[in-house]
Amino acid sequence: MTKGSLLVVCSFLAASLLGQNTPQLPKSVGKDACTRCHQYERRTTAGTPHDDAKSCEGCHGEGEKHLKSGGDTSTMFSYRRATAEEVRARCGQCHQNPSMEKHSQGDVACTACHSSHHYVQKKYLLKTETETKPV
Ligand code: HEC
Ligand code: HEC
Ligand code: HEC
Ligand code: HEC
Repeated sequence: MTKGSLLVVCSFLAASLLGQNTPQLPKSVGKDACTRCHQYERRTTAGTPHDDAKSCEGCHGEGEKHLKSGGDTSTMFSYRRATAEEVRARCGQCHQNPSMEKHSQGDVACTACHSSHHYVQKKYLLKTETETKPV
């Protein structure tokens, strides 16, 4: 074994031990970490049913990579860029309501009627004032 190949083996072992070869999933950082840069979103979710510990990251994904990169947009899930199907899948991680099924087909995304940050009616987070029936 040459000096060079020994070095390669050693650094491979060191890297494996340090876990550098295994892709790491981003970790959760908690909503307080998001507030520093996104005060508008913090304010608009405050007092809604989504203002819990999971808040930001429950909807946008784990924030560790985003924080470390100082706000790289490709590291977070964007509802604006997502397809209707992708939005449904995301919201559907927590909402599987049969009564929503008719509202969950084709090109109509949950975000056509609901908005987490730009609602005009706080109850049900609706984008328009709506006369709602009790559910
Ligand atoms: C160090 C500042 C900083 C922190 C902390 C931060 N962000 Fe961001 N974030 C940014 C910047 C800068 C952008 C790009 C400009 C913009 O859209 O406001 C961004 C964009 C985003 C976007 C839009 C992504 C897109 O595709 O357009 C989302 C969603 C987001 N952040 C969520 C979060 C969440 C959730 C947290 C907490 C886990 C968080 N951010 C923490 C700076 C930050
Ligand atoms: C219930 C799910 C949900 C929660 C909770 C939530 N968001 Fe959002 N976020 C959305 C949706 C949907 C949009 C798209 C715009 C809209 O509908 O208001 C969005 C838009 C954004 C954007 C604008 C960038 C873009 O293009 O999507 C940022 C930044 C953001 N959210 C950050 C946050 C932060 C920070 C928190 C926590 C304080 C948070 N969000 C909590 C669903 C959520
Ligand atoms: C066409 C508009 C529209 C679409 C699309 C839509 N909703 Fe709704 N949603 C409403 C209205 C209006 C209400 C208020 C209650 C009512 O009148 O039925 C509501 C109520 C809700 C509620 C609270 C009541 C309940 O049944 O638990 C949740 C949660 C909800 N929607 C989630 C979703 C999700 C998730 C999606 C996407 C899969 C979605 N909605 C798509 C209009 C819509
Ligand atoms: C991490 C879990 C989680 C995700 C993701 C999530 N929600 Fe929720 N949502 C909840 C919880 C918990 C409640 C309160 C209990 C309930 O109504 O089911 C709630 C309540 C709601 C309500 C009722 C608000 C009211 O005034 O009663 C609406 C509407 C809603 N969510 C829409 C959405 C939409 C649209 C998305 C995707 C953009 C989404 N949620 C994503 C957990 C989540």
